[in-house]
Amino acid sequence: MSATLELDSIRQEFPVTKRMLYLDSAHQTPMATCVRQALAEFLAEGNEMAGPKPVWMRRVERAREDVAALLNASPSEIAFTKNTSEGLNIAANAVPLASGDTVLMLEGDHPNNAYAWLNLKRKGVEVRFVNVADDEIATAETFERFIDATTKVISLSHVTFHAGQRHDIASIGRLCAQKGIYLVVDAMQSVGVVPVDVKKLGVSVLAAGCHKGLLVPQGLGILYLKAGLDELQPAYLAMSSLANPPED
Ligand SMILES: Cc1ncc(COP(=O)(O)O)c(C=O)c1O
Repeated sequence: MSATLELDSIRQEFPVTKRMLYLDSAHQTPMATCVRQALAEFLAEGNEMAGPKPVWMRRVERAREDVAALLNASPSEIAFTKNTSEGLNIAANAVPLASGDTVLMLEGDHPNNAYAWLNLKRKGVEVRFVNVADDEIATAETFERFIDATTKVISLSHVTFHAGQRHDIASIGRLCAQKGIYLVVDAMQSVGVVPVDVKKLGVSVLAAGCHKGLLVPQGLGILYLKAGLDELQPAYLAMSSLANPPED
């Protein structure tokens, strides 16, 4: 398929584009017809069958496999959340942090990333903000000179929500691996828009909502947690969080 034909067929999925030129300024996408159809199917199932749980659970697992493939992760490393903020809060409460530990962030990063970590002030955890200009890309060098023995986490956006820079997460990932620091990435503006390969980027935790590049309406998020981080503590637990849930 030529690039123009491919674009045309994608455009067909968004009927709004017949009436107006839609400028996506990184907020939310109009609903695609295939998404609307999938939602209609879901509503009809609920309406007619009072919730076909096995069908829905199988669909969840298929979606988990799709998300894992998109991020180059394993399905067991993927959880569903309600949005980016919930994923970042899960990360902030799961990483073992104690009084005196510090988290490095970028000045001007998304507030919902900042608040997840600033909320740990009551535990004595300090957040330090590093400056990066709107036309600058954050790299390992941006953070390296601010790292000391107390630094336990670097948390930043992959693509920023205002200036739109794509930070060099891979170099920051290599630095974090060297220093034994957790790297938490907010991929809300990048997932579905630019390639996101969690292995190449070297991230420990990645959180995103699905209502921008993944075209899902508000209310669904994805969370990647690197396998082997067994020291992470879940802030809340349900049966579906268990490795071996009881049969009954
Ligand atoms: C980079 C970034 N992080 C977080 C958010 C907030 O996302 P959510 O509503 O999924 O919590 C946004 C929303 O615009 C964003 O652009």
